[in-house]
Amino acid sequence: MRCQDATVPAEEPAGLLSVGGARPVMTDDVRERVDEAIARRRERVNEGIREQLPIQHPERLYEASRYLLDAGGKRLRPTMLLLSAEAVTDTPPMTVDYRSFPDLGGEPIDVLSAAVAIEVIQSFTLIHDDIMDDDDMRRGVPSVHREFDLETAILAGDTLYSKAFEIMLETDAPADRSVRALSTLATTCTSICEGQALDVDFEHGADVTVEEYLEMIEWKTAVLYAAAASIPAILVGAEEETVAALSQYGLDVGRAFQIQDDLLDLTTPSEELGKTRGSDLVEGKRTLITLHARKQGVGVDSLVDAESVETVDEAAIEAAVEQLREAGSIEFARRTAADLIEDGKARLDGLPGNESVTLLRGIADYLVERSY
Ligand code: IPE
Ligand code: IPE
Ligand code: MG
Ligand code: MG
Ligand code: MG
Repeated sequence: MRCQDATVPAEEPAGLLSVGGARPVMTDDVRERVDEAIARRRERVNEGIREQLPIQHPERLYEASRYLLDAGGKRLRPTMLLLSAEAVTDTPPMTVDYRSFPDLGGEPIDVLSAAVAIEVIQSFTLIHDDIMDDDDMRRGVPSVHREFDLETAILAGDTLYSKAFEIMLETDAPADRSVRALSTLATTCTSICEGQALDVDFEHGADVTVEEYLEMIEWKTAVLYAAAASIPAILVGAEEETVAALSQYGLDVGRAFQIQDDLLDLTTPSEELGKTRGSDLVEGKRTLITLHARKQGVGVDSLVDAESVETVDEAAIEAAVEQLREAGSIEFARRTAADLIEDGKARLDGLPGNESVTLLRGIADYLVERSY
């Protein structure tokens, strides 16, 4: 059941997240264009994945590596990457082959390889994240360590991690840009590991501050959005300030995305989410919501009483959410995410005024307006 807030009017269009009285800022027209932009690019990315990550010997390893990629996923980061390439070069959306995409000097580069590499990294982080978070479901199917086994899941993650670098090497961009794209990807992966380490550490610490939380989600989540937005600018040979603006856009909207993910963990049914609702509460994750609630005197460590996510029932989660809502914590998180989205969109002010930039702004709103 979707959590409804009394301040959300009944006629709110279906499909929008209705926690804390969120008012949608996207028009129906932009939302439709963003939906279409994602759907069309998702197809191209999926073709690219099949081409660049074939099932080969040893089959079980590659089947485990492809398993989550084939199970679904929104493909938000590769979509952002392809839109960013189009935005910077002022190329009308989806008018040229992403495998021979004109850089700013008119030379063809393969930006689809970069998009595939980013999604392959995303998949690697999800496989290992589900092991760390002890989660049984992902993209609507059993997580890799449940469907296969722990050893295979660790290896599948490692394989995807290194394959992503091989695939990022296939862009045919000039060597200096290619090295810089690889370097950005490497730094991004290091940050993700650092962020995940903090995420796990924070489970045991009571005194996490909002600043520490924001740093943690920047590292574990937002850096991959920053890479998705800025790597295409590097590859096409954009000005330094364009690369920096896109990177900042990714950091802002990526942090908002993680705050929204934390909200969805509380509010969205498992079937809709494709992962188990309430997992963060059971695992004792520190989120902006629980940090705020703790400050208001809510006993966040006893919000749900369950050993594992399988034993927590919907009613217990609903009751916990009600306490968090009453403490104003849901609204606080929602507003923080909304502010970050506005910051992110403003980073694009120096880019050309084309349809792809409009879609990059639209995808920013989409990240916190859609329930998935
Ligand atoms: C999940 O990301 C991991 C987080 C950083 C919260 P997504 O919600 O984009 O997952 P997929 O790729 O669509 O499955
Ligand atoms: C994951 O954060 C961030 C990653 C680096 C994968 P979460 O642990 O909240 O992601 P979900 O909710 O499992 O997708
Ligand atoms: Mg997780
Ligand atoms: Mg996690
Ligand atoms: Mg989560």
